[in-house]
Amino acid sequence: MNFIQLRNNNLCIENISALKLTKKYQTPFYCYSLAQLKNNFLNFNSIFKNIKPIICFAVKSNSNLTLLRELRKIGSGADVVSIGELLKAIKAGINSKKIVFSGVGKTEEEIKKAIKKRILLINIESESEAILINKLSKNLSKKTSVGIRLNPNINGKTHKKISTGTKGEKFGLLYSDCINLCKKIEKMKNLKLEGLSVHIGSQIKNIKPFKDMLSRLDKVIKRTKINFKFIDLGGGMGISYLNKEKKLNLKKYSQLVQKFVKNKNVKIIFEPGRIIIADTGVLISKILYIKKSGSKKFIILDAGMNDLMRPSLYNVKHQIIPIKKSNKRFNGNIEFVGPICESSDKFLNQRGFSEIKEGDYVSLTHVGAYGMSLSSNYNVRPKVAEVMVTGSSHKLIRKRQSLENLVKD
Ligand code: LLP
Repeated sequence: MNFIQLRNNNLCIENISALKLTKKYQTPFYCYSLAQLKNNFLNFNSIFKNIKPIICFAVKSNSNLTLLRELRKIGSGADVVSIGELLKAIKAGINSKKIVFSGVGKTEEEIKKAIKKRILLINIESESEAILINKLSKNLSKKTSVGIRLNPNINGKTHKKISTGTKGEKFGLLYSDCINLCKKIEKMKNLKLEGLSVHIGSQIKNIKPFKDMLSRLDKVIKRTKINFKFIDLGGGMGISYLNKEKKLNLKKYSQLVQKFVKNKNVKIIFEPGRIIIADTGVLISKILYIKKSGSKKFIILDAGMNDLMRPSLYNVKHQIIPIKKSNKRFNGNIEFVGPICESSDKFLNQRGFSEIKEGDYVSLTHVGAYGMSLSSNYNVRPKVAEVMVTGSSHKLIRKRQSLENLVKD
């Protein structure tokens, strides 16, 4: 189901036209459809309904408090990677027994907080971390539930900057290190080894890497003979950003996981981010200038790479559509760029577009995941507002950062 679409040539987020929103909110701003968010989460849940997983939404993909609260209301837990994300998940009302904490570089402060909050699992990524968590748990007179993260040495065949499951990466522990550390953790008095976790990367569109991942997990389970209470399969499910682009076959994945859990007494955890939230959000931006350069037209937007990093960071494409489509068309080469002083501040190159002029608005699509959460204040630009639409109403769910605050130190 698509809750963000062109209706009579007007881009609508649920029942509100983007044009109407531009009258209320200063561009650029992120806008989300709550119905789309709920639809995605419930759809994910239903595809995996036979295994009743704990779904820990990857907060790094979008940490807006209102959206986290909405996810909590429909049963989501949280996958966090910092004390900030942990505190936000708790503030959103997410039960600590539905929170998992991943990451290779957890600090003492972060670990202590996670221990005190008695979260579901702290996923350990090194022996030194296990020793530290054990020590801190002892100081706090606690026995802490932990998981261990396997690096299965599997290539997710995704963008190399978001691939995490191969040998050369910093994430998790390679097979034999993982086995050895399992044995050591079992002897640590203040740790309870309950989970085995894995995350091989993001935006994975083929089923094969997931299949291989499950068989590596099986190997670890057989070899260690540990009855892990939880198997945390991470996130990484790939979506389709552009028309007709391949996406992960989630039903197939679900069948594989069903097969995997058969005859095992384990609870599956997922940490999905992108698949839940990417297509719930658009970034609405105004055309500041149109500049001709040779045979090309630069469309200079008020949104820049600091607002949406993905195109310049990973060289990926987000579709751009006019929020009011004209019946006329411009057929030449155009390039959508931002106002930042870097040549990598470009969003999209394409041939032809609906006829547009300075002062019109466009929408960058599928930016709900790793859009706002990756944004920065580069060029001393304020972080933009976030708006949520539900049915025919809209509300501001994060204020645009004030310039006053931004220039104070
Ligand atoms: N679990 C762990 C341990 C992770 O590292 C990640 C993402 C996820 C879950 C969620 O993955 P997802 O379901 O969203 O693929 N900034 C990049 C993506 C970085 C992903 C980092 N880890 C992008 O914009 O594509």
